[in-house]
Amino acid sequence: RMQLGILISGRGSNMKALIDACAGRDYPAEIALVLSNVASAGGLETARAAGIKTIVIDHKAYPSRAEFERDLDQALRDHGVELVCLAGFMRLLDKDFVKRWHDRMINIHPSLLPSYRGLKTHERVLEDGVRFTGCTVHYVRPQMDEGPIIMQAVVPIDDHDTPQKLARRVLAYEHKIYVESVRLIASGNIRPRGNKTASKGLKFPKKGLI
Ligand code: GAR
Repeated sequence: RMQLGILISGRGSNMKALIDACAGRDYPAEIALVLSNVASAGGLETARAAGIKTIVIDHKAYPSRAEFERDLDQALRDHGVELVCLAGFMRLLDKDFVKRWHDRMINIHPSLLPSYRGLKTHERVLEDGVRFTGCTVHYVRPQMDEGPIIMQAVVPIDDHDTPQKLARRVLAYEHKIYVESVRLIASGNIRPRGNKTASKGLKFPKKGLI
């Protein structure tokens, strides 16, 4: 089974969705390591409770980004990680690190990329009055929130939405598409091709989400 390294900075609900999926007998991946740059991240407790190895690498303890990322990289390799899953990991990663994990690192973002890169996506979506938003799982490239798209889910916006309500509805879809994206990769049914992805003539599971 493909060995996952999950990077978190906070609550870790996407990580929890992956933990639950990996508990399934037929799921083609398992979690080798959960790594956080924040010692107080709630997700660490969740991971420990599930018996998963956790490590904290606090970026504030490092004089430079390069040294922080060198230890991050070392920990991932020490644990045999084959696919890095960013799950609410709120540090930008430098291009050296991104290159090292090229095509072997994915991210989840709470918007329909390439729209609404960056932070406060739900606030900006509501300010703009768009009718649909969603979430995206993509391979990581050096530019923030950029890279070949693996899966997306579309979420309609209600007239009386607030950023909090919308975040909650989008999050439920994040959990689904993250689990399905890792399944596609780990089963060898999707790969990056140029700035897009190619799937092996496969009908995406959970059609209608994408
Ligand atoms: C998720 O909504 C994720 O899409 C977002 O942070 C949240 C983490 O929640 N990520 C980003 O905004 C990355 N730029 P979680 O810790 O419960 O998975």
